[in-house]
Amino acid sequence: MSQIEEAANILKNGGLVAMPTETVYGLAANALNGEAVAKIFAAKGRPSDNPLIVHVADVDDIFRFNLVSDFPKQAANLAKHFWPGPLTIVLPRTDAIPNEVSAGLDTVAIRLPNHPMARALIKTADLPLAAPSANISGSPSPTTAQHVLKDLNGKIDGILDGGNCLVGVESTVISLCEDKPRLLRPGGITLRQLKEVLGDVLVDDAVLHQLKEGQKASSPGMKYKHYAPKAKVILLKGDRSAYIDYVNKNADNHCLALCYYEDVPGLLVKSEAFGSEYDDSEQARLLFDKLRKIDEMNDISTVYARCPNPDGIGMAVYNRLIRAAGFREVDL
Ligand code: TXA
Ligand code: MG
Repeated sequence: MSQIEEAANILKNGGLVAMPTETVYGLAANALNGEAVAKIFAAKGRPSDNPLIVHVADVDDIFRFNLVSDFPKQAANLAKHFWPGPLTIVLPRTDAIPNEVSAGLDTVAIRLPNHPMARALIKTADLPLAAPSANISGSPSPTTAQHVLKDLNGKIDGILDGGNCLVGVESTVISLCEDKPRLLRPGGITLRQLKEVLGDVLVDDAVLHQLKEGQKASSPGMKYKHYAPKAKVILLKGDRSAYIDYVNKNADNHCLALCYYEDVPGLLVKSEAFGSEYDDSEQARLLFDKLRKIDEMNDISTVYARCPNPDGIGMAVYNRLIRAAGFREVDL
């Protein structure tokens, strides 16, 4: 039996399989089986009010499995342009979606990933798969099978190793359940790409700002502290020379600079580069791996991170890093 068939059998029997996608690794279960989905929450330590994305292999699966009660023209347009790919669309759900998946909401998030192993797994299991990122809740999302095992070894029934994820940050999430399309989470498909297809797109407050006390999160995942390394992360907003000056003046032996390649030569302290200043796709691909690496260095108490430019895929990089920093940001 092939690895894919073995993994598909585990899913059909209500088990959990970690699978590679082009964004990050997902922890998959049969989305139509509430008991199987409940195991995902237990394995990750995920708050039960945080809904899951349902993954399909073809647009037709959405209708075949009766997942949504409406598939508006805008959804069809987005699907035509960006699926398969790193885009998740929130739509009104049907009763086929168990409560465990929707976490009590009357909507469901749907994604059609662009990774041959993920698509083969969905097709072979012939099931829609609920799959959050395959990390312990609160730690950086996994971009390699090794990251998954570090967090979940012994808690899952199988893993497919597809090597490094190409995008490196989670999918863009957009809701089509209100008057206007609303960006809930930035990712591999950029705001500009969405606007080219949809016209006007609202950007939810939680994308770039900290929610105020009592403010309701449109996407429950955005209210949690995410991607938080053990060290205190501070985002420094300014150009290269201001960043280098600040870090060289303020850092001691327990500090690390999380910076661009181009910053490294000027820095007098330990550093990890998460890509080139001029390549936001590279920054997205490397960020989570660097955050995990820093977590393994026991002598680091403060991380001075170079603030990403929040344009293009940089919006996703900024959104993840500002959460890792607990919204601590210094204007230089
Ligand atoms: O790239 C990805 O999206 C990865 C891979 C595995 O596909 N998955 C992923 O899932 O990032 P997760 O569970 O880590 O993040 C899903 C996000 C959460 O912020 C959640 O609150 C939001 O999507 N979400 C899920 N269903 C929703 C819904 N019905 N309405 C609003 N937000 C929803
Ligand atoms: Mg996640």
